[in-house]
Amino acid sequence: MLALSTGWFVVYSGHLGLRGLISPAPGEIARVFQKDGILANASISVHMILGAVLTFGAPLQALPIVRRRWPGLHRRFGYVLFVLAIATGLGGLVYIMLNGTIGGWWMSMWFAIYGAAMIWTAANTVYYAMAKDLRRHLAWAVRLVILAVGSWIYRMHYAIWYAATGGIASNKDFTGLFDQIQVVAFFVPYLLIAEFVLRLRDAQRRLTPA
Ligand code: HEM
Repeated sequence: MLALSTGWFVVYSGHLGLRGLISPAPGEIARVFQKDGILANASISVHMILGAVLTFGAPLQALPIVRRRWPGLHRRFGYVLFVLAIATGLGGLVYIMLNGTIGGWWMSMWFAIYGAAMIWTAANTVYYAMAKDLRRHLAWAVRLVILAVGSWIYRMHYAIWYAATGGIASNKDFTGLFDQIQVVAFFVPYLLIAEFVLRLRDAQRRLTPA
């Protein structure tokens, strides 16, 4: 269900990334591409294409039926998602280092935190799977799925806000109060809720007699 809901964004992101990669003048396609900036354009294009697969693939990977019925597939696709998450995070980070973001230092800082968190989370998810520590693997996998769909959540917050208010406190330079809150709100609150639920589950497990 979650994977399907992200469909429109997955197609948009993959399509824009492909156009950015193959067009002789990506600067004319969209604001996010530079007129002269081959490396920045390549890194943001690759991050859009790989990020699109990650956004769709991570919720599918979390489906209990895939984990239980096809553990081999879950393992192999897990490594694929790991590479996608690292490359998507790195692509975004390289772009920020070379170009910054439209919203200035505040947006750049939070997007960089988002990218670093994705890389760290993907590494821990695979590390605990290899260590056969399934409790920690599950906890990191939950965090990774939240981050993997984070970019889609970001756009959904905007779609809902603009439909409800017409875009109060948001502007085309992404410097309005809503824009400044969004760069935190699209992933931090969801991670905090997940943390709360995971800790509650751990506490309940400790209280339940074996
Ligand atoms: C999770 C998968 C991701 C997908 C599908 C994705 C997709 C996209 C798309 C489609 C754009 C272009 C926005 C537009 O013009 O409409 C974009 C921009 C951008 N993304 Fe991602 N992204 C993902 C994750 C990340 C991560 C983890 C980072 C952090 C390093 C990141 C950093 C950026 C930056 C810096 C921009 C340009 C912001 C600007 O100045 O407008 N993205 N992304």
